Amino acid sequence: MTSTKLATLVSGIKPTGDLHIGNYFGAMRQQVELAQSGKYRPFIFVADYHALNSMQDAEEMRRRTRELVMAYLAIGLDPEEVVLFKQSDVPACTELAWIFDAITTMPYLMRAHAYKDAEAKNKEISVGTFNYPMLMAADILLYDAAVVPVGADQKQHVEYARDTAEKFNRIFKTEVFKLPEPYILPDVAVVPGTDGRKMSKSYGNVIPLFATRDELHKRVMSIVTDSSGDRPENVYAMHKLVRTESELGKMYDEHHGNYKMLKELLFEDLDRYLAPIRAKYEELAQNPSLIDDVLRRGKQEARTISEAKMEQVRAAIGIT
Ligand code: ADP
Ligand code: TRP
Repeated sequence: MTSTKLATLVSGIKPTGDLHIGNYFGAMRQQVELAQSGKYRPFIFVADYHALNSMQDAEEMRRRTRELVMAYLAIGLDPEEVVLFKQSDVPACTELAWIFDAITTMPYLMRAHAYKDAEAKNKEISVGTFNYPMLMAADILLYDAAVVPVGADQKQHVEYARDTAEKFNRIFKTEVFKLPEPYILPDVAVVPGTDGRKMSKSYGNVIPLFATRDELHKRVMSIVTDSSGDRPENVYAMHKLVRTESELGKMYDEHHGNYKMLKELLFEDLDRYLAPIRAKYEELAQNPSLIDDVLRRGKQEARTISEAKMEQVRAAIGIT
C-alpha cells in the first residue's frame, strides 16, 4: 500500500455463480482495471453476507467464496495493491448496518428497486433482502469510499449509502461519514450466450471463464448460428471481444458462409486469450494457503480501518 492520500474505491461482489465470459467482459475486467489504475486506494470484498440471502448452503458458500477470490487474482488483482477480503471478516459491517437500521424508515427501504421488483413478482422477501441497502451502506461508508464502481443496476444502492451518510451526519451533528459517489462501469455491450440470448448462468448458455480447452471447444461449436444474415452474428459478437473489427472483417470475408471454420477460429482466439487466466487460476487452486494468506492480510487491514471508524461512530451516538 503506497499512499493513503489517494481517494478510496470500494466494491463488493457476491459469490453466487460460476463465472462466465459475460461476467468477465461485462464487469470484472473493468473493475480490475480501475482498481489497478493507481488512481485509487482500492478495497474489494466478497459480499458473502449479501449472498446469504439467496445461497444457504455452507459447502457452496465456502467453495464459491474461494473461487471468486482466485478468479479475481487470476484476472489480475494484485493483493499487494488491493485490500481483498471477505465482508464477514469485518464485524463492524453488521454492527453499523444495525445502527443504520435505527435511523432508517420502512417506507424509504420499500422504495428500493430490488425490493419493488421482488414485491411485484410476489416473492417472499427475507428481512435480509429488505435490509440489503443498509448492509451495503455500511460496506461503503466504513472505509470512507469516494468512488463505488458498480453496474447501473446498483446505482440506487450507492445513492442510499450517500443519503444514509448524510442523515447520520445530520442527526448526530458530526462529519463522521464521507459522501460516496457511484462510478457506473462503462456499459459494455451485452455478451450473447451460445443460444443468442444474453449470456447468463440462469439460461444455461454460458461459456465458463475457466473452461478447459476441450470444454471451451464443445461450447463454442454449440453456438447457434442463423443463416439468414451475412455472417453468424452470435459468433461474431463473441469474436469482437478478443479481436478488432478490421481483423474480423478480413477473416469473415475469407471464410464467408463457412460457419464451422469461423467457430474454429473463434475457439482458437478465445482459447489463446483465456489460457493464461486459466493457468493462473489452476496454479492458485494448487496453493490454498496463498488464498488464506491474502484473505488474512485483507481481513487485518479492513478490520483496523473499520474499527477506527466505528470508534468515531460509537462516540457520535453515545454508545462507548
Ligand atoms: P448472471 O446473469 O449470469 O446471473 P450476474 O447477474 O451475476 O450474471 O452478473 C454479474 C455481473 O456481470 C453484472 O454486473 C453484469 O454487468 C455482468 N454480466 C453478466 N452477464 C453479462 C453479459 N451477458 N454481458 C455483459 N455483462 C454481463
Ligand atoms: N450489491 C452488490 C451487487 O449485487 C454487491 C455489493 C455489496 C457491493 N456491497 C457492496 C457493491 C458495496 C459495491 C459496494 O452487485
